[in-house]
Amino acid sequence: RIFADSETASIAIAQELAEFIRLRTREGRPAVLGLATGSSPTRVYEELVRLHREEGLSFQNVVTFNLDEYFPMAPDSLQSYVRFMREYLFDHIDIRPENVHIPDGTAPADQVADYCRRYEEQIRDAGGIDWQLLGIGRTGHIGFNEPGSGAASRTRLITLDHITRTDAASDFYGEENVPRRAITMGVGTILEARHIVLLAWGEGKAAVVKRMVEGEPTDTVPATYLQHHPAVQVVLDEAAAAEL
Ligand code: GLP
Repeated sequence: RIFADSETASIAIAQELAEFIRLRTREGRPAVLGLATGSSPTRVYEELVRLHREEGLSFQNVVTFNLDEYFPMAPDSLQSYVRFMREYLFDHIDIRPENVHIPDGTAPADQVADYCRRYEEQIRDAGGIDWQLLGIGRTGHIGFNEPGSGAASRTRLITLDHITRTDAASDFYGEENVPRRAITMGVGTILEARHIVLLAWGEGKAAVVKRMVEGEPTDTVPATYLQHHPAVQVVLDEAAAAEL
């Protein structure tokens, strides 16, 4: 779906997400959302906050699982995804704290594998992810599944690509401060979501969007594995769609 600009697109996606949450509220069932960080989804979150404040959209039945977190990372650090999610969404809505899940960047290194297994179990216990929001990195990563991540990969500790660390440098006041690793849901974990919406804005994403949509599925560009999923929407502004 190609929109004139990211503003229009973000509002449309937030409305669709709100519709889904309301439907589940009427049915008395939870809405299980997979959430992303980065600049791409921020406007969607702001619109959800507005819908909560102005139209009474309730998040009482919403359960969330975030895709990833830097490792190591303290939750109160400026760059943590815990802080990001609080700032853009969780601090401004009525979600129950026990329904929020974000990979723990403070897990002891020798226990991370166990922690990741438990994260997967929590997703399964919640009934699986209904609606997964994604961005895409310039390396073709989804979550932090860097090139080399297979279609069956699960939640795990991963080493970040050089390009990803360069792109994050300004957030960390220099590339040398960017963590070298991260915890991420796997490509296989993401592909189990029932409905996936990937957002990409701006000319900087045009080349990787073309590779994701038109290239052969390959672990060199993990986002190409989304082509195997039966219910994916790629939501673009005109600049990100320019090379299609
Ligand atoms: C980070 C996140 C990804 C995100 C990507 C793109 O690497 N871990 O989940 O999709 O950045 O970020 P942006 O939306 O800022 O372009």
